[in-house]
Amino acid sequence: MVHPVEIESVDDVVAGLAAHEYLADEGLATAVFLAMTLRRPLLLEGEAGVGKTEVAKALARWTGGELLRLQCYEGIDASQAVYEWDYSRQLLHLRAVEAGGREVVEDELYSERFLVRRPLLRAIDYRGDVPPVLLVDEVDRADDEFEAFLLEILSDFAITIPELGTFSARVPPLTVLTSNRTRDVHDALKRRCLYHWIAHPDFERELAILRVRAPKVPEQLAEQVASAVSVLRALDLYKPPGVAETIDWAEALAALNRDLLDESAIDVTLGTILKYREDQERVREHGLPAIVQAAAARHA
Ligand SMILES: Nc1ncnc2c1ncn2[C@@H]1O[C@H](COP(=O)(O)OP(=O)(O)OP(=O)(O)O)[C@@H](O)[C@H]1O
Ligand SMILES: [Mg+2]
Repeated sequence: MVHPVEIESVDDVVAGLAAHEYLADEGLATAVFLAMTLRRPLLLEGEAGVGKTEVAKALARWTGGELLRLQCYEGIDASQAVYEWDYSRQLLHLRAVEAGGREVVEDELYSERFLVRRPLLRAIDYRGDVPPVLLVDEVDRADDEFEAFLLEILSDFAITIPELGTFSARVPPLTVLTSNRTRDVHDALKRRCLYHWIAHPDFERELAILRVRAPKVPEQLAEQVASAVSVLRALDLYKPPGVAETIDWAEALAALNRDLLDESAIDVTLGTILKYREDQERVREHGLPAIVQAAAARHA
């Protein structure tokens, strides 16, 4: 069996993720279902805080596979992504052997003992029965060369280390790539992957997420928050609030013992939901009472 979890339909994915605190809509669940069934990498794009990274975490919790996370950044290279040799330990070994009056054979230094395994190698050469979940997070931050390199790896899930030989995955890891779209991921890489754009959740889903992720927040407050967030998102802000901010906001309000979302409650907690001064100004200009009213009207 490829995956230890039984999936026969998209509904199984919805249920499996929900059991691990991730509420996926049908579009996302379908993409995940296909990625698992066809064993193809899944590229998830979407604005900040919509739940891209969490998909991989929830998949790991659900399948029981180890989560191997490769956080991309400008300048990341193979030594951070695949493997490198532990020079200081090799040196120590060399000295110790020489002190013992023996000659060092080169092979000895380039053995698995001195190999530092990074996420991609670990994802390909995994031990254990369950394929790991490989999360290549924020791939848009890496540069072109690294993307090309990644493309090669995602094509055949094999890595050659000159001194040791070729490692290849018995079963490809369940692979999730995320991008905030600070730049476009190249078509060649996209072609390797299934693709899904995660949009902000609608009111119902966001409320359901709040119930799961912030269970201590009173129901009525959670409803008002979910509603107000959808109003804020329609305001053409520089950085519309993501789900993470919705959760923070609801928890902040609850921590301040506010059980209603009124003007003063918004006023004192605006910094948990809007992290740019311009956005805060924009919302204040729009008027806090207007936000309260629109939120109430939306889901009266
Ligand atoms: N559909 C969902 N079901 C449950 N929780 C969710 C969902 N979407 C988002 N969340 C919550 O929102 C938080 C933020 O999600 P996550 O970190 O995955 O966002 P992201 O898209 O990776 O953001 P960034 O682009 O900033 O990295 C998660 O910790 C999770 O608690
Ligand atoms: Mg993320």
